[in-house]
Amino acid sequence: MGNLEKRIWTEELSIGNADIDVDHKKLIDIYNDLVEFVRFNKGHEEFAKILSEMTDYSLIHFKREEQYMQKMSYPRLAEHERSHKDYVLKVAVYNVDLLGINPPDPNDIIKFLGKWWISHILKSDREYEDYKNEIQSDVTY
Ligand SMILES: [Fe+2]
Repeated sequence: MGNLEKRIWTEELSIGNADIDVDHKKLIDIYNDLVEFVRFNKGHEEFAKILSEMTDYSLIHFKREEQYMQKMSYPRLAEHERSHKDYVLKVAVYNVDLLGINPPDPNDIIKFLGKWWISHILKSDREYEDYKNEIQSDVTY
């Protein structure tokens, strides 16, 4: 399974918010569990179990982010929430299919997850934090 690499959280993935960064680190940890799992190829049921752990933690994390964006009256909240919803739906379908008669290749799922999280963190998540810093710097005392 050569091209699946574990990912290491580095400052480059920081959005500049320690609480959110902690969540992202945890999600990358679970991602790495999935990569590790595929290397040992224990079967789809076990894979589905780790994937649903990831989904559970994603839901907790998304809720935290959405509340945070609400607090700052983030203008792109609806768009961001939609992106979270798309992810949850896609992963839920993967999970159901994994237990079906024609399961998807776990490698493809891992590729999807790696791409999604990295681009979501670097683009969408950074955007709300940048916005927050912007509005804060506008505040006059
Ligand atoms: Fe997000």
